[in-house]
Amino acid sequence: KEIFRADYQPPNYWVRWVDLAFLVEQDHTLVSARILFKRNRAIMDNTLFLDGQHLSLQRLSIDGDEVAVDDLYLTDRGLLLHDLPDQFELRSEVKIYPAENTALEGLYQSGEFFLTQCEAEGFRRITYYPDRPDVLAPFTVTIVADKTRYPVLLSNGNRLAAGDLSHNRHYCKWVDPHPKPSYLFAMVAGDLAYIEDQFTTANNKQIQLRIFTEQRNIDACDYAMQSLKNAMRWDEERFNLVYDLDEYNIVVTDDFNMGAMENKGLNIFNSKYVLAKQNTATDQDFIHVEAVIGHEYFHNWTGNRITCRDWFQLSLKEGLTVFRDQEFTSDQQSRAVKRIEDVRHLRSAQFAEDASPMSHPVRPDSYIEINNFYTLTVYEKGAEVVRMYHTLLGETGFQKGMDLYFKRHDGTAVSCDDFRHAMADANQMDLTQFGLWYSQNGTPVVTAESEYDADEACYRLRFEQHPPDSYRGKTAWQPMHIPIKLALYDDTGRPLKLNRQSDTHIVFELTQKQQSLEIENVSGRPTPSLLQGFSAPVRLKQKLTFEDWAFLAQHDQDAFNRWDAAQQLQQNIILAKYRALQDNETHKTPKLFFDSFRQLLLNEKLDKGLVALAITLPTLQSLIVNMDAVDVAVLHRAKEQLVDEINQHLQVEILSVYHQNHTDEPYQVSARQVAQRSLKNRCLWYLVQSGNKEFYHLCHQQHKNADNYTDTITALTLLAHRQAPGYEDLLADYYNQWQEHPLMINKWLSIQATIPAEDTLDRVRQLMELPVFSLKNPNAVRAVLGAFCAGNLTRFHAPDGCGYAFLADQVLALDTINPQIAARMVSLLNDFRQFHPDLRHQMLSQIKRIHAADKLSANVFEIVDRALQSS
Ligand code: ARG
Ligand code: ZN
Repeated sequence: KEIFRADYQPPNYWVRWVDLAFLVEQDHTLVSARILFKRNRAIMDNTLFLDGQHLSLQRLSIDGDEVAVDDLYLTDRGLLLHDLPDQFELRSEVKIYPAENTALEGLYQSGEFFLTQCEAEGFRRITYYPDRPDVLAPFTVTIVADKTRYPVLLSNGNRLAAGDLSHNRHYCKWVDPHPKPSYLFAMVAGDLAYIEDQFTTANNKQIQLRIFTEQRNIDACDYAMQSLKNAMRWDEERFNLVYDLDEYNIVVTDDFNMGAMENKGLNIFNSKYVLAKQNTATDQDFIHVEAVIGHEYFHNWTGNRITCRDWFQLSLKEGLTVFRDQEFTSDQQSRAVKRIEDVRHLRSAQFAEDASPMSHPVRPDSYIEINNFYTLTVYEKGAEVVRMYHTLLGETGFQKGMDLYFKRHDGTAVSCDDFRHAMADANQMDLTQFGLWYSQNGTPVVTAESEYDADEACYRLRFEQHPPDSYRGKTAWQPMHIPIKLALYDDTGRPLKLNRQSDTHIVFELTQKQQSLEIENVSGRPTPSLLQGFSAPVRLKQKLTFEDWAFLAQHDQDAFNRWDAAQQLQQNIILAKYRALQDNETHKTPKLFFDSFRQLLLNEKLDKGLVALAITLPTLQSLIVNMDAVDVAVLHRAKEQLVDEINQHLQVEILSVYHQNHTDEPYQVSARQVAQRSLKNRCLWYLVQSGNKEFYHLCHQQHKNADNYTDTITALTLLAHRQAPGYEDLLADYYNQWQEHPLMINKWLSIQATIPAEDTLDRVRQLMELPVFSLKNPNAVRAVLGAFCAGNLTRFHAPDGCGYAFLADQVLALDTINPQIAARMVSLLNDFRQFHPDLRHQMLSQIKRIHAADKLSANVFEIVDRALQSS
């Protein structure tokens, strides 16, 4: 059933408080609930619908009067009560079966312990309740369980009491004083080890911090703990936000649908975003741990204290919290590198989503299954929308807006419009047109043309905005409010003064369909640097020459645009080679390209992380987004040709940069070392691509001698992807060493799923037979299926369609186990429009095959149905 944003109705009843009791047994759990309901006076309706799914109702009473279960209006979606008083206490008792719950929503089992995931609509699998984010209540939770099997019993808030009971049982009672919606509920019961630490808040309160995990992982949690303390301090310093409970607990699991969950006072984390040690985690893994720990912590204010009125407003909390975690990482690591990585991801994956059948506004208008809308658009484009407020208002103005937002809405459930109004009112700024960023789907296109008048010494930029092809709103597309940060450079690379205040960069606000900007006193045609820092999520089209891009790659003071100019050069060359290959011609790369590449590679003044990114060629995925009727095999060959040429021209330089950045310093996750390793390993990548035995040897050396996982896994991956001599032995050794560690094995699986060889699909099938693989484990599914389909494009798009058929088989099998993950995987077919008709038709026929299957989940149905409707 499709749900529409426009149909929002406030609830008939509010909840005053909730008191839950869990009796946890090995094969089932008994949930008793006492809930005080109070009529919403604004609505004259004395019926109440309580969500409930997969629950076995044992008994129910209203104000002490037992209601016979047979007399209730019960469906597989919930329970309808009618003729209710203004205020009443509901008591219910349900039985649930967590051990059989493979969907990993509600209460489920991971290893030997029990845990919950309630966002978005998992609480209805725990008890009958108005499972919607605008119903907030304080919760009290008592958990009773066997003391030997389940010594640790956790829930939200502060621990109030604990003690022993008869029959070797014990109990724990938790109180969360902060009213919250049901999606933030969590509980855990199991035999878990923990590490602990303290944090002293700005207002001098001691907070007890704990990270719980299965015993075998207890030595891998220290980095996460330090990250948590960094995040708490940072949120105080940058946002003036202080933690509000006495304890903060994190529980780690290997079985999780997403990255992590911000349950009040009891975060639950995918082990991938907690566990990290020098010999088990890459630099990127460490940085992701810090970012996700930060993200969930920051939700405490942006998400929990102020939550969403309905799920259409999801970006209210997610876009804002992603923006906050991006800023956190930028302040801790390299700001330039962080920005480039985020935009690179946005432009390849979110732009693809925006052009696909799943294209939707940051605030969607309708959905069938809300879990399908935890998307790159809601999260990453949502964060770009928040970043645009920041660009328009500046840090001070933005913080004024945040203050007003908290002042107005703390403790309530609100909408994206409420946030926008707070930003506008705090700054006396009209942000009405800005609201279109929430309502219009698709990526706007901006074209820029320039004109230099030597006689008048005047430079004119003419901007025009165009609707995205995928726009599908009901009303005509309207021009949006687009901040364009820009600078102009003279021919020596010096930035021009753009106004009376002598600013060398300005934010031009494009609000009309067409708009011009004139700069006076410009002696000599400048080179424009537009959309600096990627100041708006648009596709910018400008007519720059090859020389202009090379000039910007050399001189732009904006790190992002400098990187982008290098990318534009690389992209232009690869596309030229692609067209030449298709026409059976040869393409000659201009010398200027290698000069520019060399200058970046050898530039010792630049951040090495930036250099590493600037010499990294665009991924196939990021090229495909900007193309149509793509022949993947030919595109892959075009890119390989360029790699070969770079090696022919620059191998000596690349090798010397490799050696210069190879150090014997002890390992640290410092910004400097991370940058150095990324540059070194990018050099190694080029060297190994040449197929030269000498460099295979170098790679083996690095693998053997490295003191850190970044260097060993990079070397192993490069050797495996080239199927270089000895790689099978290294893989076998790795397996023997790490087979008890799912995270480590998942990396081993991914390396093999992304080998660009003819027989990789057979290999993938064999991997899936191993005991270390299970369709029930989302991380393993992502490591194999996700890696093969999204990270091995030449094999996934094999001309005979075997990759697509394989994916479809797996989606159908997965759908009966875990619909959320099945829907994620089927989405890998969503970009079918970009491909050559031969490929596109085969992708579509697998989508049709899935669509025709019996008993599809709502999750998978919605994805394939949208795809077919728009094909
Ligand atoms: N709120 C979580 C986060 O972004 C994500 C949980 C999503 N869960 C889901 N089932 N869709 O931090
Ligand atoms: Zn989030």
